[in-house]
Amino acid sequence: MSEDMRYITFALGKGRLANKTLDILDRIGVHCEEMKDKSTRKLIFVNEELKFKFFLAKGPDVPTYVEYGAADIGVVGKDTLLEEGRRAYEVLDLGFGKCRMCVCGPESARELLQHHEMIRVASKYPHIAKDYFYNKKHQTVDIIKLNGSVELGPIVGLSDVIVDIVETGSTLKENGLVVLEEICPLSARMIVNQVSMKMESQRIMDLVHKLKANL
Ligand code: PRP
Repeated sequence: MSEDMRYITFALGKGRLANKTLDILDRIGVHCEEMKDKSTRKLIFVNEELKFKFFLAKGPDVPTYVEYGAADIGVVGKDTLLEEGRRAYEVLDLGFGKCRMCVCGPESARELLQHHEMIRVASKYPHIAKDYFYNKKHQTVDIIKLNGSVELGPIVGLSDVIVDIVETGSTLKENGLVVLEEICPLSARMIVNQVSMKMESQRIMDLVHKLKANL
């Protein structure tokens, strides 16, 4: 490694995706043992050999760090990319974290989606919900932003339906809700800052090719 080589910085979305990302990076010889230590309060980790830095961030902040170049590379769910709408190149579908963005609700709400009725939609993803209802379905709806446990919406009478992630479907099932419409499939994606892609294309593409071969 040459002395003047600059660091390439990775922003990883906290939680399940980060653990899976570290596993797959391990497989291609990119190690960051320190980061796996659950008790640490450190925010940034360095692999001096490869000149890589890693930090954990809240999922929705990952595309922000990448757009501004504070991170060269990010790993984040497609749901977050769609919702945040940040500028970055999406270079790789990592194939894990697979789930679906769906319109869900009680079976009785199905007909509310057929006749362009004004309905209430609760979601952690107001932009995705708006794009789907306004631009794809041409249905004017009232979107209510929630921050989690969105399934409560139709149960407590806050909304008619929700737009949310469905993975196994067990949260819906245990709460008497069903998938009414599917919006799109989701999974973890690798994104790259647009300038970094030009300045460090060789190191970044080398990494992408190695990851691709190990998926
Ligand atoms: C997500 C999502 C659903 C659930 C879907 O919530 O919002 O509630 O997982 O998974 P399932 O189909 O396998 O049941 P998360 O656990 O991230 O928590 P949140 O409700 O606080 O967003």
